[in-house]
Amino acid sequence: MRPGDLIGPVEVGPIAHGGHCVARVDGRVVFVRHALPGEIVRVRVVEVTSRFARADAIALLTAAPERVQPPCPAAGSCGGCDFQHVEPSFQAELKRRVLAEQLQRLAGIEWNGVVEQVQPVLGSRVRMRFVRADDGGLGLRAHRSHSVVPLPADGCRIAHASMPVNVRESAPDFGHREAFAAQAGANVVRFRDPVEYLGVVSAEGGRLVAAGSAASGEVVTQQVGQRDFAVGVDGFWQSHLAAPEVLSAVVLRGLRAIGGEVAFDLYCGVGVFAGALVDAGCRVWGIEGSKAAIVHARRNVPEAIFFAGDVERTLSRLPKRADLVVLDPPRAGAGKAVMAAVARLRPRAIGYVACDPAALARDLGVARALGYEPEAITGYDLFGMTHHLEAVAILTR
Ligand SMILES: C[S@@+](CC[C@H](N)C(=O)[O-])C[C@H]1O[C@@H](n2cnc3c(N)ncnc32)[C@H](O)[C@@H]1O
Repeated sequence: MRPGDLIGPVEVGPIAHGGHCVARVDGRVVFVRHALPGEIVRVRVVEVTSRFARADAIALLTAAPERVQPPCPAAGSCGGCDFQHVEPSFQAELKRRVLAEQLQRLAGIEWNGVVEQVQPVLGSRVRMRFVRADDGGLGLRAHRSHSVVPLPADGCRIAHASMPVNVRESAPDFGHREAFAAQAGANVVRFRDPVEYLGVVSAEGGRLVAAGSAASGEVVTQQVGQRDFAVGVDGFWQSHLAAPEVLSAVVLRGLRAIGGEVAFDLYCGVGVFAGALVDAGCRVWGIEGSKAAIVHARRNVPEAIFFAGDVERTLSRLPKRADLVVLDPPRAGAGKAVMAAVARLRPRAIGYVACDPAALARDLGVARALGYEPEAITGYDLFGMTHHLEAVAILTR
């Protein structure tokens, strides 16, 4: 088997973590994109390693009932979406299977929960990274590649209508897009250096700024419930417009916070969970690695005490006991040392917010060995059309 080979018919097996399904060809594992479990397809091999191969489905011989016409004309070539060809509720089902498999394999947890689809699926992204395409317009990178796929003429289907790349739906922000073009010295929208652009939709409207430019350090406002959060254009904020509200409600409900309890928000960003914990009457401490985010967190949630620093090294500056701990680590997870340090605080409950099911499973495996069992684990499909999912686990001693 070599890259470029056309192979088939291939029977597509189960979904795997990463947006592809598993098939076997002559005893070799092949990760197939753009297919669905149960389908018979022809594939083009794109990569071969000693252990497995990667391939793209290029012809459909037998279609799964869950297959739909992709809403985006760039589906299949653009690396931004994996599941445009899948009926949205089945996308959530595929993510449920992935989460269940990771929990079982990496933590020995038999999980029968659900992945809830969060609306809207299209038009939901309030933060995206775009790349300049060869024609001077904007695009997104192809899957596992540096090449850039131009956005369709009317924009990106998963981006919020106010994202300045969305021409048709974003009439109110079109002025901004023109202003940007004028600034770039062109009559039509043509982007020059640099290569990457950040798209942000906030209470102020849609913005598109060059990554690394002075404007990328500007501050925008995001609203969650009754609170306003200042956040840097290039700082962390959840990409689905409903995510901060949905996740803080789920975590707070799961923790059943009692007024006066001591609560830690670890990996706190600009203080979204800290704000929710303060509003529930808790005394709150937060830790975040980004100094810029901590400056915002202190203003966003003045009732809480925040430290900038690495969670593992900075935890010693917080009280030695906590009733509640919220962890929202980056994709790699919190890791053994942080999970052990959290367990030493002897919290009544831990709310773990995860953007990677494998990291969640590994950290839950560590937590179990330390005496913390998951009381509830729920997935949230906050990344419609992609393979990504968010999960919230509530752990108790
Ligand atoms: C998934 S984000 C969560 C942010 C926040 N909870 C929110 O919902 O907006 C993870 C955050 O962890 C921070 N971070 C990553 N590694 C860290 C570390 N070792 N110590 C402290 N913070 C870290 C990142 O800067 C980022 O803000």
